[in-house]
Amino acid sequence: MVISRPRGTNDFLPEASAKWQAVEALLRFLCRNYGFGEIRTPIFEETELFSRGVGNTTDIVQKEMYTFTDSGGRSVTLRPENTAGACRAYVENKLYGLPQPVKLYYMGPMFRYERPQAGRYRQFHQFGIEIIGSSAPTADAEAIGFAWDFYNRLGIRDLRLALNSVGCPDCRPAYREALRDFFRPHLGELCPSCQDRFERNPLRILDCKSPVCHKIGEGAPQIYDYLCPDCAGHFETVKGLLQAADIPYVLDPHMVRGLDYYTKTAFEIAVDRIGAQSAVCGGGRYDGLIQEIGGEPCPGVGFALGMERIFSALAAQDDTIETDDELDVYIITAGGQAAKAAAFALATRLRAAELSVELEYGEKSFKAQIKAANRLNA
Ligand code: HAM
Repeated sequence: MVISRPRGTNDFLPEASAKWQAVEALLRFLCRNYGFGEIRTPIFEETELFSRGVGNTTDIVQKEMYTFTDSGGRSVTLRPENTAGACRAYVENKLYGLPQPVKLYYMGPMFRYERPQAGRYRQFHQFGIEIIGSSAPTADAEAIGFAWDFYNRLGIRDLRLALNSVGCPDCRPAYREALRDFFRPHLGELCPSCQDRFERNPLRILDCKSPVCHKIGEGAPQIYDYLCPDCAGHFETVKGLLQAADIPYVLDPHMVRGLDYYTKTAFEIAVDRIGAQSAVCGGGRYDGLIQEIGGEPCPGVGFALGMERIFSALAAQDDTIETDDELDVYIITAGGQAAKAAAFALATRLRAAELSVELEYGEKSFKAQIKAANRLNA
């Protein structure tokens, strides 16, 4: 029997990889532009990093993690996201000793045991940035502006930037109570997940995809009436900065995000044309996360974007990424092994001179070699 790749994973063949590399090159260019340095953290971490960081009540931690016990008896997890990992690395490597904020970026595979469908995979790839060590609204605006800039440079159309504030541990409890009071009379009508969320995290009921929960939630109290002065002021400043930079946003009081660490700003960018998995990017501020994973209190803000979804968005508007895959030289040989040796030596010299070179390995006719050279655009 032929062995297939695991469900929810992809093989990216050279032609697709070339497009990925072009997108990655743009992202790296932007990171230089905006002053971010790359961080590479392990693909697996101690499970506790995510149960504490991402949050025990989230879908990610409850049902989507690839967790296993290694031969040393430790519980480890394939990273479902990389904000917790970046923050762990910040603390562990004492990056708080550097001038603040520290601006990091990463790209690589993430793993979530989700039901695979178009745009949703079990191994997917994110690019993300984290600005750690600043509580200033300008950092929030810069993170959002970076994502906006990127999609616009790629020419992706019909982007929708949804903005919200989810408050902080000072003001959220009162809002949570208000939501419970609102949903209590409807408790029996809510979907099973939301009945569960009612106690643990009623804010999550607001962005439930079930039509019934959605309908009930329409009349729910809005967080804007509960934000403390600090959160409200922060939110106003972020909005003002986005307006000043002509970055159009829509306020979405029901967008609360599926990770527990957010405080104040939360945002998502969606391209509705690409179907149910329309979120191409999500992020926000996480001022409590570093303390949650054992560091000294330290604010942060960032986002991650789905690499696969960039290509869905481009395909949906009949666009693609142009790549430069032209071959410089194709060496045609005729004359047996002596000619092969001469061609091989020549190819080596030309490659050393930074030309891209192909040569025929076997014994093919002159015509067949010309054809191959043409096919490769030599
Ligand atoms: P997230 O919203 O869970 O946030 O993921 C960010 C993006 O990754 C999504 O908008 C989506 O494009 C992509 N994505 C997520 N799950 C999948 C999947 N199963 N298949 C394909 N693409 C997917 C985070 O991960 C946070 N760490 C973002 C962040 C950084 N917040 C602050 N800093």
